[in-house]
Amino acid sequence: MTASTIRQKYLAFFKAKDHQIIPPAPLVPADDPTTLFTNSGMQPLVPYLKGQIHPMGRRLVDSQPCFRAEDIDEVGDNRHTTFFEMLGNWSLGDYFKQDQLPWFWEFLTHELKLPKARLYISLFKGSSQVPRDQESLKVWKKLGVPENKIYWYEAKKNWWSRAGTPEEMPEGEIGGPTSEVFFEFDSVDHNTKYGKACHPNCDCGRFLEIGNTVFMEYEKTKQGLKKLPAQNVDFGGGLERLTAASQNQPDIFQIELFSEAVKNLEVVKKSGPAYNQDPLPYRVIVDHLRAAVFMAAGGVEPSNKDRGYILRRLIRRSMVQARKLGMEQDEWLSNTLPLLASPYTKTYPLIDKKIPEINQTITQEIDKFRQTITRGLKEFNKTSPNQINERFAFKSLATYGMPFEITQELAQQRGIKLDKGVFDEYVKKHQDLSRTVSTGMFKGGLADHSEATTKLHTATHLLHAALKKVLGDHVRQEGSHITAERLRFDFAHPRVLADEEIKKVEDLVNQKITEDLPVKKTIEAKNQALKSGAMAFFKETYPDKVTVYTVGRDLNQGWFSKEFCGGPHVTSTGKIGSVRIYKQKNLGAGLRRLYARLNHGNHQSIDQNQGRTQ
Ligand code: GLY
Repeated sequence: MTASTIRQKYLAFFKAKDHQIIPPAPLVPADDPTTLFTNSGMQPLVPYLKGQIHPMGRRLVDSQPCFRAEDIDEVGDNRHTTFFEMLGNWSLGDYFKQDQLPWFWEFLTHELKLPKARLYISLFKGSSQVPRDQESLKVWKKLGVPENKIYWYEAKKNWWSRAGTPEEMPEGEIGGPTSEVFFEFDSVDHNTKYGKACHPNCDCGRFLEIGNTVFMEYEKTKQGLKKLPAQNVDFGGGLERLTAASQNQPDIFQIELFSEAVKNLEVVKKSGPAYNQDPLPYRVIVDHLRAAVFMAAGGVEPSNKDRGYILRRLIRRSMVQARKLGMEQDEWLSNTLPLLASPYTKTYPLIDKKIPEINQTITQEIDKFRQTITRGLKEFNKTSPNQINERFAFKSLATYGMPFEITQELAQQRGIKLDKGVFDEYVKKHQDLSRTVSTGMFKGGLADHSEATTKLHTATHLLHAALKKVLGDHVRQEGSHITAERLRFDFAHPRVLADEEIKKVEDLVNQKITEDLPVKKTIEAKNQALKSGAMAFFKETYPDKVTVYTVGRDLNQGWFSKEFCGGPHVTSTGKIGSVRIYKQKNLGAGLRRLYARLNHGNHQSIDQNQGRTQ
């Protein structure tokens, strides 16, 4: 059975049992700054599991795209993926164990026609606070599951909350004991590397967890676990895994959602192992790219922070693996991407609609990474062999973003062995240091004070002034955000900007950069500064005395820009180099957004590929 059929069958099955089909939440939560990505079907339902009334009723079902960053290093075996679709059904204080377990059993054995002989069950063995789950045992036995196929585990395996075991749950988090179902692939032999005897939770790959029912009836409080107002059911089952079980295919990467992309990689690869010799590079590429497709469709852009950083990491990690297959250009990407996206275009129309944008986001990041690697490579070739060590690898990472794996590849060719453990020590030391340094240093709306962000900060002032000069004095800043990659500037203006207007603004900014105007910092009385025409951000309240940055040769007459600002800025505009406005977004309600970046001499291709307006 295909994933698409299973998704359909599942929704229909629970609909017939009086469940309302609810639309999945976005993978990238729109208004929840605390969560990077939706990571389970229950996440958007937490308030309702805690007792709030759900508008759709007490029986819900959906299929939820999820992303789990914590699994990124697990990808490579036969079953772990970072992105997956979770089939979920919920009882908000309605039915409980006596219905849920027989229903799921019926779905597995009747709808998916999984042989009963291959199904195993796990249950919570109990703790000082929560009793052993005898009730579920009775239900499973009544369904005909023999006791020797029912395994008991502790909270580490058979307790679920978003934070882990009861001890790991923060106050206010909800959770409960679980009952999981496992499928046994008898074509896979147990590997004693994972323990003497095989069992459902063994990591050897013979067993696959295909469904997890959480009896969500506890909340963590100061005093320990407390019962929630209602006994809820929170079921989650990985669609990809259920598909693999239905196809009796122990390798999840061989189901139709991945197999074409894997085959394509085998065709286009230039060197390196075949899939059956070493599947890891293939698995990492297809898993990470599929996740990247969904993230880019959700509007995430690669960056050095939060969601953008995870997307960047996924793309760069897949590129590292592509190089292991001898592919240094984009040959691996152009066909792989559509093959991974196409199974989703019907169910997720956004993916279909955004394919060109997704492609562009990923391709641009790859181009950027290629430049990084080229720079790192130059440095490597310049360095004498006795200086190539783990410290050098770390420096290459810190300075050029050169991944350890690539430096290690290169070092190997010169007969030098680099130790990942020693390298990791350098990374850890640096992380500790940067954590200390970063405490309290996010000033003036800047994410950091690196050279690139400082240049872009001054460029933002130039852009603001240029917009006023070109479009009119009504232009008013509504917000800005600067990273090392780009600046983003929001402003009020009634119309979408025409290409010629953007060009005029960009030209004026670059003209002021070419004039190499001094950037001066002064402290002035607020009212006086306002009178002189300095621009203040109306959303902010300022003290009586303010810092003002002025761009211009003569501060008393003819300055180009004057703004209230905490800095930092470059000392003269020439230091910026040049700037490229590469994107406009219409935010609606008379609000426009422009994106600009520092030019690195390749603006021609950005212009042609991306266009200026969208
Ligand atoms: N909420 C159940 C699961 O994620 O497995």
